[in-house]
Amino acid sequence: MSQPAEPPYPEQFPGLPANAFTKFDPAPDAEFYIQPRLVNHIDDGAIAAVISIYRELLPPDCEILDLMSSWVSHLPPDITYRGVTGLGMNVEELAANPRLTRRIVQDLNQNPVLPWENDEFDAAAICVSVQYLQRPIEVFKEIARVLRPDSTFIVCFSNRCFPTKAVAIWRALQGHQHQQLVAAYMQSAGFQNLTTRSFAPENGDPLWAVIGLAPAKSPA
Ligand SMILES: C[S@@+](CC[C@H](N)C(=O)[O-])C[C@H]1O[C@@H](n2cnc3c(N)ncnc32)[C@H](O)[C@@H]1O
Repeated sequence: MSQPAEPPYPEQFPGLPANAFTKFDPAPDAEFYIQPRLVNHIDDGAIAAVISIYRELLPPDCEILDLMSSWVSHLPPDITYRGVTGLGMNVEELAANPRLTRRIVQDLNQNPVLPWENDEFDAAAICVSVQYLQRPIEVFKEIARVLRPDSTFIVCFSNRCFPTKAVAIWRALQGHQHQQLVAAYMQSAGFQNLTTRSFAPENGDPLWAVIGLAPAKSPA
């Protein structure tokens, strides 16, 4: 499999250095994610914060896209959604996720084009994974395309990551700066009405979120 184009990628982030989206480990992500990791990547308090954001913002009965998904989606267990589509890197992780009704393995750094029609989803989420995206604007524009206008897009993250796989700009920033970076990704992709959430316990993993609403589609 070929590597993504050398940075700067075709549609990259204006104002950031050309190497902002490089990783310490330049090997294809498929090699890193070949082994399933059936673990939680954040502690129970941070997971509870994610669940509470999802409970508040994801309408029951909606069709959800869980991007960069694994064996857990952190959706409130007592709420039934119409469907939950998971896109991730490891087939065993996705197979073990009981919330998913559709599963697809796709490397978004190799191919940021999502395999769905316009307006297919009512909500989208990326949980503790946005730091691995090397082509965030392309991916976020694709999310805007597959979401119905005014649908909610929630990006949650903590201060944990696989450092060799996080992009350089993520490693250079922290906390609220990550919120600003993700908000900038969303703005560049057309998301509107951006809001943020912060959960910072004295002991335990912090959890930040950036939330946006999908834009209306421009006429063809
Ligand atoms: C830290 S785990 C988080 C998984 C899950 N969202 C959660 O909340 O536990 C990072 C996930 O990002 C996904 N991921 C990493 N690089 C990716 C890529 N290039 N394309 C698509 N997904 C990717 C992997 O499948 C992995 O499961």
